[in-house]
Amino acid sequence: MADTLTITDNRTGKHYEVPIADDTIRAMDLRQIKVNPNDFGLMTYDPAFLNTASCRSAITYIDGAKGILRYRGYPIEQLAEHATFVETAYLLLDGELPNDAELAAFKKDLSGHVMLHENIKKFIEGFRYDAHPMGIFLSTVGALSTFYAGAKDVDNQQSRRRQSVRLIAKVPSIAAYAYRHHVGKPYIYPDSELSYTGNFLNQLFKRTEPIYRPNPVLERALDVLFILHADHEQNCSTSAMRGIGSSNADPYAAMAGAAAALSGPLHGGANEAVLRMLTQIGSLDQVPAFVESVKNGDGRLMGFGHRVYKSYDPRATVIKETANQVFEVTGRNPLLDIALELERIALEDDYFVSRKLYPNVDFYSGLIYQAMGFDPAMFPVLFAIGRTAGWVAQWEELLSDPTRKIARPRQVYIGEAARDYVPLSAR
Ligand code: ACO
Repeated sequence: MADTLTITDNRTGKHYEVPIADDTIRAMDLRQIKVNPNDFGLMTYDPAFLNTASCRSAITYIDGAKGILRYRGYPIEQLAEHATFVETAYLLLDGELPNDAELAAFKKDLSGHVMLHENIKKFIEGFRYDAHPMGIFLSTVGALSTFYAGAKDVDNQQSRRRQSVRLIAKVPSIAAYAYRHHVGKPYIYPDSELSYTGNFLNQLFKRTEPIYRPNPVLERALDVLFILHADHEQNCSTSAMRGIGSSNADPYAAMAGAAAALSGPLHGGANEAVLRMLTQIGSLDQVPAFVESVKNGDGRLMGFGHRVYKSYDPRATVIKETANQVFEVTGRNPLLDIALELERIALEDDYFVSRKLYPNVDFYSGLIYQAMGFDPAMFPVLFAIGRTAGWVAQWEELLSDPTRKIARPRQVYIGEAARDYVPLSAR
């Protein structure tokens, strides 16, 4: 059996044989299919990339039909149970789990880059008192591009590594500054005695106590949430990261674009939208009417559905367990009952069942964040901290590929044919 596809062009009667590798054909192999020798040749039309692989990647594997997610081969459930976020970030970047010495060196590297230049504070202070923290976050990430001119040397692997470590190390500090600005509290410097996530909680929530001690259950829960959000192959924001990175823009510029993509309510803004939706529903008796309104096309059930997962989102399963651990410490989030009822009805209702709409990672994450004391506006920023590890790993994979080219899709032109300019007086 040959690994080829035979195509018959019924316009000309000609046959073409194109190779199949990894269950894909090369779109460029279609270009030879023409009616006339001067034709451009056949293209594929795939808005929103529903069925187009934009790269070859060894980082994250997803089987949406079976609900499987693996980073570098390791199942997400095992990483969420046994690994830390820092180990996971190392794994995503380097391809292997670190040994003791490698992990210690990586932690030291991270803690060396956790502080922000003092001018970043002044920059953040320029935002209005009610600025959305995600807007502050993505602008500040972009602004880092002006602080690290060496980052422009994107062909230098050592420089790329330094920028990746710098980004993973600095995003919690940026997020904490964005939050403290949002609530009008002074910024807190990092504490190198604490873990990556413990220090983040310190930078967020420290008040006047001399030493901040994070609650270990909440620290672990947030670490798990970072692991769950760390990568998700070629999603909207990662595609933005790769698309911008493909122009050899520096990683701060590329990641500002990725964070901008993440901020939308159909992507990383969904957890915030879920919380607002649950608050708007308000009580259990309003749930059936809300479900009906969604079915009638009046908005979407936020936190449900996924482009790739069509059975269940394995991250949602882990998050539900994490939520229970968090609620034991913080007390039960009153919106949980509304969420559970919404899920129960939706999983039985033919509208959702037939469209394969299941809770995604964001359906429960917002409830955890809220119980931990976060304002909903911070939810997408929390997502961005975890996802930074994935963004930089994908960027590194892109940049280390010597055959890479600038991302530049084609279009099907549907506008006017050539016509002559009409002077203003004659229009
Ligand atoms: N509520 C109600 N109906 C929905 C939902 C939803 N959440 N999601 C999809 N549908 C319906 C659509 O209306 C459509 O119905 P139709 O066939 O009758 O027209 C059908 O299901 C298919 O929907 P698409 O929009 O084609 O699915 P797509 O794969 O493009 O969208 C997406 C995926 C964007 C995640 C979508 O399910 C959605 O908007 N969900 C809510 C937002 C959300 O939770 N986003 C977070 C995603 S996870 C993440 O980014 C980490």
